Amino acid sequence: MTLTQAEKAAVVTIWAKVAPQADAIGAESLERLFFSYPQTKTYFPHFDLSQGSAQLRGHGSKVMNAIGEAVKHVEDIRGALAKLSELHAYILRVDPVNFKLLSHCILCSIAARYPSEFTPEVHAAWDKFLSSVSSVLTEKYR
Ligand code: HEM
Repeated sequence: MTLTQAEKAAVVTIWAKVAPQADAIGAESLERLFFSYPQTKTYFPHFDLSQGSAQLRGHGSKVMNAIGEAVKHVEDIRGALAKLSELHAYILRVDPVNFKLLSHCILCSIAARYPSEFTPEVHAAWDKFLSSVSSVLTEKYR
């Protein structure tokens, strides 16, 4: 899935706004994920998943950090996320359907915070970008 130059620019522009709030957005995205799609909690039996828990916030921050790396290396998302791709495919074995659910929750969390910036064009660009990130993280399954 290739992003156009305009889509890449939209992703980078919104990220500049999101970055200072990334930890909060990461935590909110996971809260939305576990609340709306409780089956996703089965991957985290070792976590305290209550709202605002330290583990949930810590993990949200790690996820958004990885998204930030993908934004920084938008020309080579595969290279930027190679290690994470191996982790999710070979060790965690997260069913790929869950990536769509998390991507949706990240989009909602960004949209809720930046309603005027979240135009249809920005929405479409972020949707495509998160699909690319998800493809990279799920492409090694076999
Ligand atoms: C771990 C990113 C999707 C389940 C991680 C880590 C990162 C990450 C950065 C930490 C790696 C480390 O500690 O070295 C992402 C990104 C995703 C994504 C960017 C998609 C946008 C998912 C989904 C699930 C999932 C959809 C399951 C519903 C896990 C689990 C861990 C993990 C269970 C290990 C947690 C632990 O024990 O510390 N992920 N992830 N991830 N991820 Fe993902």
